[in-house]
Amino acid sequence: SWTMVNIVDEAVEVVRQQVGEKRIICGLSGGVDSSVAAALVQRAVGDQLTCVFVDHGLLREGEAEQVERDFVAATGVDLYVVEAADRFLTALKDVDDPETKRKIIGREFIRAFEEAAREIVAKAGADGDEVEFLVQGTLYPDVVESGGGEGAANIKSHHNVGGLPEDLQFTLVEPLRWLFKDEVRAVGEQLGIPADIVWRQPFPGPGLAIRIIGSVTGERLEILRRADAIARAELTAAGLDRDVWQFPVVLLADVRSVGVQGDGRTYGHPVVLRPVSSEDAMTADWSRLPYELLERISTRITNEVAEVNRVVLDVTSKPPGTIEWE
Ligand code: XMP
Repeated sequence: SWTMVNIVDEAVEVVRQQVGEKRIICGLSGGVDSSVAAALVQRAVGDQLTCVFVDHGLLREGEAEQVERDFVAATGVDLYVVEAADRFLTALKDVDDPETKRKIIGREFIRAFEEAAREIVAKAGADGDEVEFLVQGTLYPDVVESGGGEGAANIKSHHNVGGLPEDLQFTLVEPLRWLFKDEVRAVGEQLGIPADIVWRQPFPGPGLAIRIIGSVTGERLEILRRADAIARAELTAAGLDRDVWQFPVVLLADVRSVGVQGDGRTYGHPVVLRPVSSEDAMTADWSRLPYELLERISTRITNEVAEVNRVVLDVTSKPPGTIEWE
């Protein structure tokens, strides 16, 4: 529409003004926001941009491949990959407080970006200027909920807003800072980003780390990743992807309950299904998924993921619950 064309043109112009001839990097997560932000900046300043994908090991099944293959194929951006799974796991060791997890993850992201920036400049050779700018796909609701908006309470320090280190070396470029998700999707379509990226359900930057209630370990990540993949696959098979805003699967890693599987007693972990419908994530309602679908998900998870012996459904709206459990 007219207004979308205007929003895109204006955002492109603002980025050009801010960045000038300087070098800029963009953290890519595979999600809608960072993909749209990257495509917008690419339109504005072309090959001054290098996208950086930090593989922190907290992604869902198949997501790293999606970034490295599909987004690059669709946009032709210059991509630099940082393999950081071990570093993130070490930094998160024994941490179970939600805000502390976010702060650690925000800090590790920035350290990874700083290292990537040095490498990118080194690769460019003698005429390589420093990287001055970092693009982030921060949206308006992230700003508000991190306490950055006027009169707003600090509900969660979104890892890319309240979680940034104070000695940040980059100047931030946040072309989506005034937009809501539906507007970001419209901008993405306007920029020609493929539908399966534009319509992807939101996924938080701290990834599965804030969907493990308790501390994060490689083994817990693997359990959650398998349960999550089953829930996602069944939702897609039922044709309900676009009816659901987001479908977190949460591992209650510190909780155990008694079960019986085959003819043996089990003492395993519950997972929580948290499908929600929403317009902008500021408020949400729990999704009334069909019972048959819930049954299939429950049966498959308890059959296929040995460590999980119980599947529960979260029937809380936001407020009073938030979408994520942490
Ligand atoms: P809540 O849980 O506050 O989440 O209802 C609202 C939306 O924000 C996402 N979320 C995050 N996204 N970094 C992000 O990039 C974060 O630290 C973070 N915490 C929550 C959440 O998935 C939902 O879409």
